[in-house]
Amino acid sequence: MTSITTQDYTIYFNNEGYKALNQHLKAIKYSKVFILCDSNTNIDCVPIFLSKIDTDITYDILEIDAGEESKNLDICLGLWEALSQYGADRKSLVINIGGGVITDLGGFVASTFKRGIDFINIPTSLLAMVDASIGGKTGIDLGTLKNQIGVINTPKLIVVDTFYLKTLPQLEMRSGLAEMLKHGLIYDEKYWNKLKKLSQFTIENLNDLIYESIIIKKNIVAQDPTEQGLRKTLNYGHTLGHAIESYFMENDNKERLLHGEAIAIGIIMANYLSVKYCGFSEEKSKSIKNTIKSIYGEVEIDEEDHLPIIELLKYDKKNEHGNINFVLLDAIGKPKINCIVNNEAILGAFKFYKKN
Ligand SMILES: NC(=O)c1ccc[n+]([C@@H]2O[C@H](COP(=O)([O-])OP(=O)(O)OC[C@H]3O[C@@H](n4cnc5c(N)ncnc54)[C@H](O)[C@@H]3O)[C@@H](O)[C@H]2O)c1
Repeated sequence: MTSITTQDYTIYFNNEGYKALNQHLKAIKYSKVFILCDSNTNIDCVPIFLSKIDTDITYDILEIDAGEESKNLDICLGLWEALSQYGADRKSLVINIGGGVITDLGGFVASTFKRGIDFINIPTSLLAMVDASIGGKTGIDLGTLKNQIGVINTPKLIVVDTFYLKTLPQLEMRSGLAEMLKHGLIYDEKYWNKLKKLSQFTIENLNDLIYESIIIKKNIVAQDPTEQGLRKTLNYGHTLGHAIESYFMENDNKERLLHGEAIAIGIIMANYLSVKYCGFSEEKSKSIKNTIKSIYGEVEIDEEDHLPIIELLKYDKKNEHGNINFVLLDAIGKPKINCIVNNEAILGAFKFYKKN
């Protein structure tokens, strides 16, 4: 595996990626280069990245605090101001080195600064490698509401180097795995079965599976870049997952959930709804729940949390004409979009999540 080419850009792997990046930098001669990173990736990843750059570039580093809380308009404003103060012009480049927060936010900042400057993604978390950095969705949260503001715009290129995962905390690794599980369930039962068998989430175990996940995401996005139909299937597990993530973020008495942890719950609940609305196999739904709970354990969601979480569904981006549209499964690999479900069924899904 050296590269995957999409209509608009190429995803390169490991050293092939730095070769392509060095060539790109030499060819384009950007007026200014900005490296956007967070407080962790500045320490763990930026030095590795810089050691691979053999082109004579000068750069400024823009560092933000790590975590989802930084994916907001205030931070964007600070970054636009910094770009402006450091003299960025339309021939400048932003290189995003980090997880999904950095690729989402950095892509958005670059896409809107002076009506759009070039950006490159160097994903360093598992989640960003298999999902967030690919496909061109960029954006920020509105308060605690996920991804409400953003644009679709593609990077010039992406370098996926799994070496960065060496410093990624194990809980973040597990969070990224949720999007890989999603890819298996919506697209390819064989891939799901391979993931199911994993006993340890080491880089060695995951290397080929990361590649497969990227191919799945790329194939789906290529067929429907602007999310008219098929691409919506990537939101499987995210309707309730995002609402749960937002609810836990806005409640001080709840521990913050990582994105993938919330999506794992959303997947279990979507499967319950799939049994109810699409005739999905009950046995499979239970077996998927067992697999996911064996990886993520169970998060305490109290009964009094259910209705406020359901209330948050009205902000989901897939909603149309006031309807909340779920992605459900007819079978593994056979997703169904625009499914409308009632609140009673969602309450049933919360119970199903809790039951062993
Ligand atoms: N645009 C999309 O299509 C898309 C798809 C899925 C998820 N997302 C978004 O992605 C975000 C989640 O991404 P994430 O899980 O990568 O979160 P993140 O960017 O917050 O990274 C997770 C944590 O890992 C740290 N980190 C990253 N790489 C590291 C490394 N190599 N070594 C040490 N620490 C490292 C970060 O500093 C952070 O603390 C969410 O905001 C979600 O909405 C976007």
